[in-house]
Amino acid sequence: MRKNIVAGNWKMNKTLQEGVALAKELDAALKGRTINCDVIIGTPFIHLASIAAAIDITRIAVAAENCADKESGAYTGEVSAAMVASTGARYVIIGHSERRAYYHETSAILMEKVKLALTNDLTPIFCVGEVLEEREAGKHFEVVARQIEEALFALDQADFAKLILAYEPVWAIGTGKTATSDQAQEMHAHIRKSIAAKYGKEVADGCSILYGGSCNAANAKELFSRPDVDGGLIGGASLSVDKFLPIIEAF
Ligand code: G3H
Repeated sequence: MRKNIVAGNWKMNKTLQEGVALAKELDAALKGRTINCDVIIGTPFIHLASIAAAIDITRIAVAAENCADKESGAYTGEVSAAMVASTGARYVIIGHSERRAYYHETSAILMEKVKLALTNDLTPIFCVGEVLEEREAGKHFEVVARQIEEALFALDQADFAKLILAYEPVWAIGTGKTATSDQAQEMHAHIRKSIAAKYGKEVADGCSILYGGSCNAANAKELFSRPDVDGGLIGGASLSVDKFLPIIEAF
C-alpha cells in the first residue's frame, strides 16, 4: 500500500546554523514517538550535508528543493542531482510553482530534472497545481493533468512508480487560504485516475499524492483523512517544531 508522508519545504529560510538546530530539534522530538508516516525535510542545498550528518536520516529523510537539469559541467551556480545524492539526501522537490513562476521552469526542463534525479537514486517529489485564474475558469483539472502528462508521461512504468506527487494549488500557497478537503480530494482522485489511465491501477494506487498549500496543525487531520490525500508538503508550518510536529501527528 502507498506511504503516508509529511514533507517540509523550508524554501529560502534558515541560515545553516538555524537549519541544523531545527533539524536536530525535530529529530529529538520524534525520537521514541510513534509516527504513522514518513517524515522528510526539504532544505536549501547548503544545509543538506550538515543536516544529514547531524540527524538520524532513517527517522527524518532529507530532500533538496531543486536540482539542475544538466548532469555536470560548466553551469555556474547549479547543483546536480549527483551532488544532492552525495550529501545523504534521498529526495528532491521538482516543479514547485515558485520554480515554475520565478525561474521559468518548463515541463521540458522538469522532465530532465526528474530523469536525472531518478538516475541518481533520488526520489522526486513532483509538484503540480493551478493558479487562481485557472481554477476560476474551471480549467484546474485540465491544467494539472497537462503538467503531469508533459513532464512525466515519457517515463516508463517502473520509473513513474518511484515518484511522489504533490498537488499544490498556487492560490493556497503561503496565503492562509487552504483548499477544502473536498477540493483536495477531488483533485487527488483526478490525478490518480489519470495515472491509472496511463500506467494502470496498481501504479496509481501505489503513488503517494501529497497536498500542499497553507496546510497546518488545524487542518491537517481533516485533509489527511481523505482517501486520496496521502500527506502534505508543508511550507511555513515546517519552520518550527511546534507547528510541524502536530501535522506529522495528524496521521
Ligand atoms: O511546498 C510547500 C508549499 O509551497 C506550501 O507552502 O505551507 O507555506 O502554504 P505553505
